[in-house]
Amino acid sequence: MKKGILLVAFGTSVPQGRAAYEMIDEMARERFDGTDIRWAYTSSFIRRKLAREGEQYDSPLVALGRMRDEGYTHVAVQSLHIAPGAEFHDLAATVRQFRAGPNAFESIRLGPPLLSRERDVERVTTAVLNSLPKRGPKDAVVLMGHGNEHGDGELALVAAAAKLQLADPLAFFGTVEGEPSTEDVLEQCRKHEPERAFLVPFLTVAGDHARNDLAGDEPDSWKSRISALGIECVPVLKGLGENKNVVAIWMDHLQTAVEAVEK
Ligand code: CO
Repeated sequence: MKKGILLVAFGTSVPQGRAAYEMIDEMARERFDGTDIRWAYTSSFIRRKLAREGEQYDSPLVALGRMRDEGYTHVAVQSLHIAPGAEFHDLAATVRQFRAGPNAFESIRLGPPLLSRERDVERVTTAVLNSLPKRGPKDAVVLMGHGNEHGDGELALVAAAAKLQLADPLAFFGTVEGEPSTEDVLEQCRKHEPERAFLVPFLTVAGDHARNDLAGDEPDSWKSRISALGIECVPVLKGLGENKNVVAIWMDHLQTAVEAVEK
């Protein structure tokens, strides 16, 4: 038996974004001491960009093929995506190619993304709200998720938005590329009229979307649009992958996958 773990993230080309992956890597090595851990990035755009800068990252397909060639027999793959959107579904399809046929491992399991069950949403909500700087009674928190067009991925984010607002009426959640929308967030700001808003990425890494779409100086960034409503904006540029209590949820999903692989 040769056991291995493959951690699969979207990928980032923003150097400061790496802090999240480093933390996840460290926590995985601690929890699964003695098991080989590899990484792959699902975004071909990011992989090509990094390759031009001299850094090679494998796609999940190449990483799994390589592990198969190197004689691994039991592999646990963990998605480091937030919601079951397009990137996760593509990963699941790739993993299926290694379940049967000439390239099959003896056993392979895929751990689901962060928001997979009701209790995940509950844990993420608590972890995120507890990690914020000290807030006054008129301080809101504005969270930016990515958003996606996959029905189940979209619903996971809608559930997170609802749970956050139940836990804290001044926690407004929106996404850059989906639902709930930017307009929904601005609507909440107009309705509740907070004095200040902490701008927080609900993304694995605080990369391009966090630095530009959320907290950038461009007129269409959330910071500019929320500031225009007379609300002072305070960006908190840390990804969910830099929050230990959030990473613990991914690690629990991986633990389940590792145990299933060994059965
Ligand atoms: Co995007």
